[in-house]
Amino acid sequence: MTEMPVWRRDFPYEAEAEDDVTRREFVRFLSLGSGAFAVSTVGVAALTSARGEQEAGEQQVVALDALRVGEPHLFRYPTSKDPALLLLRPDGRLAAYSQKCTHLGCVVYLDEEGEELVCPCHEGGFSADTGDVIFGPPERPLPRISVEVRDGTVWATGVDHG
Ligand code: FES
Repeated sequence: MTEMPVWRRDFPYEAEAEDDVTRREFVRFLSLGSGAFAVSTVGVAALTSARGEQEAGEQQVVALDALRVGEPHLFRYPTSKDPALLLLRPDGRLAAYSQKCTHLGCVVYLDEEGEELVCPCHEGGFSADTGDVIFGPPERPLPRISVEVRDGTVWATGVDHG
């Protein structure tokens, strides 16, 4: 006959089905659960990353002769969920940026003078020439979208998150 453990003598109560889950089984369950969670987290991160790279390819934006100084052309890049704008600057250069403010993600717009991209949420402002912060709470410039003109058409070719 096996000897009764000390704790059992000190605590002689029995709960219903107390032997159903041993400490070892509980630890095994926790280990497997944590492992499965870690593996799925890595999988989701890899999938998200791979999808982002696939969608950030080259994209036709607009005919160059349709652009006017002071009138931003709105488009979506690098995915259909990413608002972006293309500007024809007074010196003839093209500049394209993500339209999402780098503070908390509100959409920026070109001011009446055509010099600043303004965020209405917390009065942030970015240079329309460079995308750099010129006032307000944002600390990072707007992501710059690389553009090229091919046969009279503007193409977006990549994003620089600076
Ligand atoms: S979200 Fe643009 S300044 Fe806050």
